[in-house]
Amino acid sequence: MWTDGRLCYGGDYNPEQWPARVWAEDVALMRRARVNLVTVGVFAWSRLEPTPGRYTFDWLDQVLDLLHDGGIRVALATPTASPPPWFSAAHPDALPVTADGIRLHHGSRDTYCAAAPAYRAAARRIAAALADRYAHHPALAGWRVHNEYGTTCHCPHAATAFRRWLVAHHGDLASLNDAWVTSFWSQHYTDWAQIGTPRATQYLANPGHLLDFRRFWSDTLRGAYAEQRDLLRAANPRLPVTTNFVLGDWVPVDHARWAAEVDLVAVDHYPSAVDIGAEEQTALVGDLARGWARHGATRRRDPAAPGTGPTPAADRADASAPVWLLMESAPNQIHTAGRMHTKEPGRMLRHSLAHVARGSHGAMFFQWRAPTGGAERFHSALVPHAGPDSRVFREAVALGAALARLAEVRGAVEASVALAVDAASGWALRHPGLPSRHLDHHEEAAAAHRGLWHAGYGCDVVVPGDPLDGYRLLVLPALYLADDATAGWIRAYVHGGGHLLATYLSGAADEHARVRLGGYPGALRDVLGVRAEEFHPLADDEQVDLSDGGTGRIWAETLRPAGAQVVTAYAGGLLDGAPAVTRHRYGAGTAWYLSTRPDEHTYRRLLAAAARTAGVGPVCPGAPDGVEAVRRRAGHRSWLFLLNHTDREHRVAARGVELLTGACVDEAVTLPPGGVAVLREQTG
Ligand code: GLA
Repeated sequence: MWTDGRLCYGGDYNPEQWPARVWAEDVALMRRARVNLVTVGVFAWSRLEPTPGRYTFDWLDQVLDLLHDGGIRVALATPTASPPPWFSAAHPDALPVTADGIRLHHGSRDTYCAAAPAYRAAARRIAAALADRYAHHPALAGWRVHNEYGTTCHCPHAATAFRRWLVAHHGDLASLNDAWVTSFWSQHYTDWAQIGTPRATQYLANPGHLLDFRRFWSDTLRGAYAEQRDLLRAANPRLPVTTNFVLGDWVPVDHARWAAEVDLVAVDHYPSAVDIGAEEQTALVGDLARGWARHGATRRRDPAAPGTGPTPAADRADASAPVWLLMESAPNQIHTAGRMHTKEPGRMLRHSLAHVARGSHGAMFFQWRAPTGGAERFHSALVPHAGPDSRVFREAVALGAALARLAEVRGAVEASVALAVDAASGWALRHPGLPSRHLDHHEEAAAAHRGLWHAGYGCDVVVPGDPLDGYRLLVLPALYLADDATAGWIRAYVHGGGHLLATYLSGAADEHARVRLGGYPGALRDVLGVRAEEFHPLADDEQVDLSDGGTGRIWAETLRPAGAQVVTAYAGGLLDGAPAVTRHRYGAGTAWYLSTRPDEHTYRRLLAAAARTAGVGPVCPGAPDGVEAVRRRAGHRSWLFLLNHTDREHRVAARGVELLTGACVDEAVTLPPGGVAVLREQTG
């Protein structure tokens, strides 16, 4: 592992922003905080290669030696997310072009087109130069390629590469025309050269075109990553390689499909909510990252899977107990809604342990030391502008001590619910021309996850097609796209005795976003035992009443049972008395359908009912709402994480040794407001 079995702790370290005299102090402070891993060089290209082909490695030599002497390991970055000014000046054709046809200028970061040959060649050259010099440096724990792949471009290079991708994926124009339904609005293509990137159009763009553009960029960026990874690996096959995944609607990266390409799934997470929403998001991101790691490990076992090169064995995620790494997070602030909000004392520790509980192999931060200038000069840091005599640094020291006490924690996260998340469904539900602008696969997944989280059920995120053995309940949150294989995967699960809860629009379209005919939700009508003829999207502030006293938002449907039993009906209005929520026996299993988004309380009740029927119970039955309980198991050993996100003290029944304090717990652990406990459980 990256830190020889210890949990990773540290973050992005940018010595190039500081005079050499600060470096020794950095190492001393890192040691005080028990930092054991830093990412170096992420944005250092112009300091490493100030003019084309002239490398200035002397400062990095010194930094790596200092870190090594201090016992701190390094994830050495390739700096390709920010090409230097000389590169942009020499290769204006490699500057990115927006959908409006505007070419962007140098002056920020990520100002390149990843399909531009000059950019790719320059990126390979600097990566190779770093590999050549440092692949056997004793400080190196591994490589972190690039930073947060996620940019797109509409320049001529991108258009050429897109056409190549289309030829490879569709084979001939007849298939493409069919997949994109180009008979609509006279878009039938007769020559590949007629197809460009989906630039700004007069009116709505073609959904198939938009979807393939996202897929193309996911594959292109993955190719850019893989070519750097391969040359780094060739220089020293024992060093693991990864890149840090960034989350967000704008990111055209299918992280699940990328996961087989990295030796450790690494994720950056910055919550966008300030209240309990930050905790809910943290839990979801942890489950997502672990799901990607599991999916990657499963695919890697499949010799037919593309791009699955040899991986250093010790660093492979194991599908039965997948680990991943929180690569970046903000120490003391949440940046959202136009301002920075302070994380109150203790929250940095709680957020970090929430990730470790869900399988993160440690907690890493952006950034080590706050810079004096540059665009992110006020971003939070472990060493803030105030210096080490600060609340933040004291909490950083306490976090280092806490993580050191948790080194023994390992194993799989206990989960009996599976939540299916699919990047392409998320992209397709973002297209213009849909019946409502509030359709959002990821928000639907978050809503289901919130309900599960508050009820204390352990949840794994799965990708359509993943093995479902051991899960009692599968949730499909507006899983809009379902190819025939996905529909078969769902059918087989329920038929074999699994329990399903699907929300509106799941299975409504195929893999090219073509609507499946015969009534909604196309591919799943038989499993769900329903047929919807019409949908009725709701206005922003509109709610529909439900017969159980709850309300629905966003969406409603004219639903007819076709074998299913009505659980809840719409009450009043156009749909008065019509089914809103249904339940259907299918084979040996049961399938629930939610044709609207219930309010939080009703959603939790429905999830609880589905969970009860499925035999799903909370991880820690005594933990009240707001106290997060996560259990990890390895063989006969288990660890229980209890995180009190409330402002009240709670006592939770548990037995074992509390690792942070060393105290023996016989009956119950007392959690102060905001407090945490990690128990090595006493079994038997
Ligand atoms: C990401 C990037 C960092 C920094 C932070 C700011 O994580 O990787 O370089 O920009 O966001 O939150």
